[in-house]
Amino acid sequence: MQKLIVGNLKMNLLTIAERDRYFESFKKELKAKKLLDSKIVICPPSVHVESFVKKTKTKTVSIGAQNIFWEERGSYTGEISATMLKDMGVEFVIIGHSERRKYFGETNETANSKIKAVISAGLVAIYCVGETREERDSGFAAQIIVQQIVEGLADISSAKVASVVIAYEPVWSVGSDSIPTSDEILETRILLRKIFAEKYGLQLADKIKVLYGGSVKVTTAKQLCIDPGMDGVLVGRESLIPMELVKIAEIISVSSEQGAVNNK
Ligand code: PGA
Repeated sequence: MQKLIVGNLKMNLLTIAERDRYFESFKKELKAKKLLDSKIVICPPSVHVESFVKKTKTKTVSIGAQNIFWEERGSYTGEISATMLKDMGVEFVIIGHSERRKYFGETNETANSKIKAVISAGLVAIYCVGETREERDSGFAAQIIVQQIVEGLADISSAKVASVVIAYEPVWSVGSDSIPTSDEILETRILLRKIFAEKYGLQLADKIKVLYGGSVKVTTAKQLCIDPGMDGVLVGRESLIPMELVKIAEIISVSSEQGAVNNK
């Protein structure tokens, strides 16, 4: 299965000069690198989306957005719709990121409306789920994740759910340097597969991509993605350094190629 390496640039690249330096450095790093069966998805701040599409989009590099509003058009001051982004050349949209839940009051219900809008615009939703430290410590992690999946994907047909990418992002790992063990990630992966198998059948459970996000670096990519058999990663801080993002992509791409050889 094609691996996804998603770079969430968040609210960074404050000037045009900084953005242009990012392009140069990213292109330089990517040159001469062959990413086999993998795709990098860069999610810049929305003001930079158009220029990222022009300067970086290729067969192996797609552009994503960090958020959308669920309505398509109209009197919604300050908002951006999936249709607008699609027309700009965007292919992916991150939905329900823990920072949006924490700072902007997003819930499973708002994520659900947004995922529906993303799908109907013909884009791919990257739906973030994951427990807080308190939820994990009190033994509620699995219950929280089940609820995020059930409510976030409510009233979406299985044919449409099949296009959604899930990002398991333990909230306590995002932006910190605490990371789960490979076994802990594998446990969540198995839980997600079980939920999808029960709700939509085994075929879909096998098809749906599950990424890991939270403190992914060159040095942690093996433990967080390759060992637990994830389908890729969502990278925050490290994606601001093109060299690191491309190196992470390379590590994951090589491992997916080796996996393919081993399975022959
Ligand atoms: P981080 O962020 O890599 O900086 O922990 C991950 C994320 O926000 O998805």
